Amino acid sequence: MVFFRSVAVLSKLRSRLAQQSTALGSARWLQTQSASDLDLHSQLKDLIPEQQIYRFSSELSIVRSLTVLQERLKKLKAENGKVQLGNITVDMVIGGMRGMTGLLWETSLLDPDEGIRFRGLSIPECQKLLPAATPGGEPLPEGLLWLLLTGKVPSKEQVDALSKELQSRSKVPDHVYKAINALPATAHAMTQFTTGVMALQVESEFQKAYDKGLSKAKFWEPTYEDSMNLIARLPVVASFIYRSDHEGGNVSAHTAHLVASALSDPYLSFAAALNGLAGPLHGLANQEVLLWIKSVVKECGENITAEQLKDYVWKTLNSGKVVPGYGHGVLRKTDPRYTCQREFALKHLPADPLFQLVSKLYEVVPPILTQLGKVKNPWPNVDAHSGVLLNHFGLSEARYYTVLFGVSRSIGIGSQLVWDRALGLPLERPKSVTMEWLENYCKKAA
Ligand SMILES: CC(C)(COP(=O)(O)OP(=O)(O)OC[C@H]1O[C@@H](n2cnc3c(N)ncnc32)[C@H](O)[C@@H]1OP(=O)(O)O)[C@@H](O)C(=O)NCCC(=O)NCCS
Repeated sequence: MVFFRSVAVLSKLRSRLAQQSTALGSARWLQTQSASDLDLHSQLKDLIPEQQIYRFSSELSIVRSLTVLQERLKKLKAENGKVQLGNITVDMVIGGMRGMTGLLWETSLLDPDEGIRFRGLSIPECQKLLPAATPGGEPLPEGLLWLLLTGKVPSKEQVDALSKELQSRSKVPDHVYKAINALPATAHAMTQFTTGVMALQVESEFQKAYDKGLSKAKFWEPTYEDSMNLIARLPVVASFIYRSDHEGGNVSAHTAHLVASALSDPYLSFAAALNGLAGPLHGLANQEVLLWIKSVVKECGENITAEQLKDYVWKTLNSGKVVPGYGHGVLRKTDPRYTCQREFALKHLPADPLFQLVSKLYEVVPPILTQLGKVKNPWPNVDAHSGVLLNHFGLSEARYYTVLFGVSRSIGIGSQLVWDRALGLPLERPKSVTMEWLENYCKKAA
């Protein structure tokens, strides 16, 4: 039986290998999907209890296949649990755990120089490989969701089937609108959005199943239902609000992972993530960038010179503020998400005066931040660009921008939450120490 299964897997693997793009040298075990498997849930069902890990040598011969993912994790822990991943320094404890490896996050990995990779694929590779609505266009978000959940590149048919499925899940109950309407008109769009998510939570499948008593091995299934329902309903909630966004360590993704580690359902976890995203050093930066750019135009006009722009940047810094849209906790180069938006702007809105200002800032800001001597990354991040694009297409309400970031972030967070439960990851609980403890420890270490 095992033999026949293995033969079937090997022949499936060979046919998938044939479909693999040769342009993609870096995709190690990534597979292109055959168009016949259109149901994402059944794909996951196949993957989770019996995840097949395909590894290839440089000659693309199979060196190992068929490993149970949960078993792989247990084996890793049992055999290598005591392997050290680095030293924890006092700087790291005081400095917000920066650079401390402390989180398992299967769906994406951030490289300081290269930027984000989703299941091994960079942004340009995703643009090349994931199905688009029109040939040569930008990839559809459903394709990214499929990739994140399964680790496989979907076909156009699979993406279309997933779009239909999300549509069928997108009905938002009335009480959600009522909860949002109960807030005062002055409530920030992110407050309305989080309220909407919390109102959706009353329908959590995970909570219902957990209350009934569900075995740990099955946790991933209602988590999947909740994540898919949430992803399907968020755009509807976001559009209702309007009638008035890697790797796991960033504030919002880490928050969702932490809260979910207490077996809080995806709604509770995602609402917590949104509260982190609403902070100006994180997701709110896209709002802050547009407001800041508009304040530059208000003070200096659209035809601002490089010298005037430099003065404005220094004025911002000297007043104790950060330059929004520049810098990053991990990246040390221009954010590839910025580059990709810049290429889009060069193609579709090269004459837009605010885009031209964003381009001038790209020349002016990095040397100034470098001159400060303390900024680890003087280059622009994703938020330096997104607002100007949205503004160009008529979405000028900057206070709404982080809501859109939240809608897109649900795809990555929702996928990882399914895998958190599939892998049976435990409650997250880092050790904290006092300043006195650190001082005493350092004295002894000296
Ligand atoms: C993203 C951000 C919070 C990362 O913070 P970080 O990891 O602490 O960054 P660094 O280690 O480079 O910070 C070192 C110093 O440089 C400062 N710095 C970093 N980016 C800066 C910026 N864009 N403008 C001014 N100062 C900046 C920090 O405030 C810090 O100053 P301090 O030591 O006086 O507190 C930071 O770069 C920032 O505030 N950027 C602007 C907001 C933004 O665009 N956020 C979206 C991020 S995707």
